[in-house]
Amino acid sequence: MKKIITIKKKIKNFNKETNVSGDKSLSIRWVLLASQAEGISRAYNLLMSEDVMAALESIKKLGIKVKIYNKYCEIYGNGINSFKYKKNLIINARNSGTLGRLILGLLIKSPYKIKLIGDKSLSKRDFSRVTMPLQKFGAKFFYKIKDKLPLSILGSKTLKGIDYLEDKGSAQSKSTVMLAALNASGTTSIKAKKSRNHSELLFKYLKIPMKIHETKKYDFINIEQPKKIKAFNYKIPGDISSAAFFMVLTTLADNSKLLIKNVNVNPSRIGVVKILKKMGAKILFKNLRDYKGEKISDILIKSSSNLKAINCPSRLNSSAIDEFLIIFLVAARAKGVSYFKDLSELNQKESPRLNWGARILNMMGVKTELTKTSIKIYGNPNLEIKKLIIIKNYLKDHRVFMMSAIAALTFGGEWKIHDQDSINTSFPSFLKIIKKLN
Ligand code: S3P
Repeated sequence: MKKIITIKKKIKNFNKETNVSGDKSLSIRWVLLASQAEGISRAYNLLMSEDVMAALESIKKLGIKVKIYNKYCEIYGNGINSFKYKKNLIINARNSGTLGRLILGLLIKSPYKIKLIGDKSLSKRDFSRVTMPLQKFGAKFFYKIKDKLPLSILGSKTLKGIDYLEDKGSAQSKSTVMLAALNASGTTSIKAKKSRNHSELLFKYLKIPMKIHETKKYDFINIEQPKKIKAFNYKIPGDISSAAFFMVLTTLADNSKLLIKNVNVNPSRIGVVKILKKMGAKILFKNLRDYKGEKISDILIKSSSNLKAINCPSRLNSSAIDEFLIIFLVAARAKGVSYFKDLSELNQKESPRLNWGARILNMMGVKTELTKTSIKIYGNPNLEIKKLIIIKNYLKDHRVFMMSAIAALTFGGEWKIHDQDSINTSFPSFLKIIKKLN
């Protein structure tokens, strides 16, 4: 159901505690890896969003039993390369780039063609970043428009490990090749520009034979084909990409304080915290702990009235790639001109987010200078919006919707934001949490 939400009041001050929903990257990875394990795997706090439901539906179509209970989800895996399905299978990744790309890694031995489709947004996105390495393994691809969905994959019986250079800093491309390596004999060697490392941590936890050598810019990952993967249970921590909206809401609200509990603060994901702190935000990790290789923490945020512009170092881009839209709002309130560069990947997301960020800031009365890869934002600590702002036609990008809602709650004005259902892809409880804060 499509819905337009109207927001015409700023949020009142609050002092609360909340959880955010489970991490999307980890939820999808758990589903895909549990489908390759032997036995029953169980996940608690699995993100129950459309992207993850699409992942569960996809493995069900591939012959894997899935049970969803109130408190947990179970996957009955039959081992590596054990998918069973009939000819002419169609898998729908809906809005999810992570699912659409990663699942192809598990299909490189498929004896029949499998068709992969997605929604309007996913059908505009680039798949060459995964079809290229998977072709090197021996898979074949068929499409009407080159490297765009819908596409079909046909696997190959004998597969050997490959050498692969990932130089975009895309965790999806790296993880797709890592999953393909489960099916390939010999060694798969990946040289990957730094990006989120959830797949590596899960592979390590699952004792998949793997060696990693880290340098400042690149990780060198060698994977040997495992004999088997044992079923495993996992408690999915909160998603820092969802928490980020509330970090910024609290930073920009008057006189407020929020404790977000149980968030994944994996070092490859906390660029947003580093950037916001450099800009003067008050953010503190409390009760930092380890969980199966991941880092988890509660995050305490307090409002901040002294925000300053940033010349954002590009080395932080990959660890904050899903958070730039919301960071731009802090830049709009900060004193001085902020500069974010080397961000071509931002226009490769669910919608061209660099362009949309600039468009929304301009509607808010914020001056920007936009190129294909960078943005300058002229901050104004006294910015108050007094007009009507309508946000629509943004390819139902969940993060555009949520950025707009946070802007409405902190800068004022009257906002009509279309496609409320977009939040169901990653953060279905977003508006419920906002209601609880008020
Ligand atoms: C993700 C990787 C990132 C991110 C996406 C989730 C993942 O995409 O934007 O939301 O789970 O691996 P890229 O790999 O395209 O950078």
